[in-house]
Amino acid sequence: MEKLIKSSGAFDPLLIKNDFPVFKRRIHGKPLIYLDNAATTQKPQSVIHSIDNYYRQHNSNIHRGVHTLSYESTVMYEDAHKKVADFIGAHDWRNIIFTRNATEAINLLAYGWGLHNLKKGDEVLITIMEHHSNIVPWQMLRDLKGIKINVLGIDDKGDLLLDELPALLTERTKLVSMIHASNVLGTVNPIKHIIQEAKKVGALVLIDAAQSIPHMPIDVNDLGCDFLVASGHKMMGPTGIGFIYGRQELLEDMEPFMYGGDMIEKVTLEKSTWNELPWKYEAGTPNIAGGIGLGAAVDYIQNIGLPNIYQHEQEILRYALEKMSEFDWINIYGHKSDSQSVGVVSFNVEGVHPHDVAGMLDEEGIAVRSGHHCAQPLMHELSMDFTARVSFYVYNSKEEIDLCIQTLKKVKKLFG
Ligand SMILES: Cc1ncc(COP(=O)(O)O)c(C=O)c1O
Repeated sequence: MEKLIKSSGAFDPLLIKNDFPVFKRRIHGKPLIYLDNAATTQKPQSVIHSIDNYYRQHNSNIHRGVHTLSYESTVMYEDAHKKVADFIGAHDWRNIIFTRNATEAINLLAYGWGLHNLKKGDEVLITIMEHHSNIVPWQMLRDLKGIKINVLGIDDKGDLLLDELPALLTERTKLVSMIHASNVLGTVNPIKHIIQEAKKVGALVLIDAAQSIPHMPIDVNDLGCDFLVASGHKMMGPTGIGFIYGRQELLEDMEPFMYGGDMIEKVTLEKSTWNELPWKYEAGTPNIAGGIGLGAAVDYIQNIGLPNIYQHEQEILRYALEKMSEFDWINIYGHKSDSQSVGVVSFNVEGVHPHDVAGMLDEEGIAVRSGHHCAQPLMHELSMDFTARVSFYVYNSKEEIDLCIQTLKKVKKLFG
């Protein structure tokens, strides 16, 4: 791997592609160009191997046996927590809880923390950019507990209206739960500033890092956030595994989300006590293979280096924006200010439904997303129902952007 990375940190995405078996496939007879990374990323051979190897060599339940396989599985699964902790700068791996995905992670916090700590009149602040997974759980608590949800809006450039923050952050604000990087606009929000402002009123802060953690370095201690969630499958790991980082005192104090085996210390028919972190929140047999696969994904990312990944994606992003902007029939959403963004570009081809755009790109082997991107309130704010979206990762190249644009020209000619 090291020889793939030049001293400048640059790397050749064509060489990186060799690590990903899926790119041997042809789609409609064409080489696969995968530009749907915000939905899920492709998996390198090392991740696939780690799962295969686990089932072939080690498969056993964790924490339950003294036999060799159980011991090995336990160590491998715990090691995966350690790798994630290291990856995000968490001091203690026990503050990393594995969940199914970012959605389950936010639900765990809504039930485990919100249900027991929020009361009528308390307020949760989100932004208009949130993915549904960071809206609907708080609506559940609004309906159950009578809390109020406040929403920080955006300006016409797609940046958060930070001037409105002081009015929305009051002593009633108990939690700020916000997206780091938008899965629609690509905007990277100034979370460090917002965390500092939230602390002034004593609010906790939950960061949805699903779209940032795969693409840019993050250090939870530097940020000072209380909780952070992400999904493994968006960072080259398998599906069915995600995680929460939580501040230890909060995780110690919170109630479990799910109850049953493995999350207990002692059970009598009268009462039960809870296991130590993180197992208190990982009830039942967890996704052991998925956790180990996530650990392998973290290794793969660390080998390339997140700063190098970020630099590569920024180059692809700048190139894509420059090329797409040459055509007045391509409407790009976001990317209108100098704010930091990740490699996500939502757009529409004038006069053509985004599903037709995505369908025709697929004919050329190019995978892009079309739809509301699970962010309907943001789509409503932008006065539209659907967009097409390209999103980039380590294996994407400028040549792929050129091919995508060539096809968009055909789309416009045929439908527009
Ligand atoms: C910003 C953001 N948050 C949360 C999620 C939910 O992730 P998952 O479906 O893996 O739970 C997504 C998925 O697209 C996302 O983009």
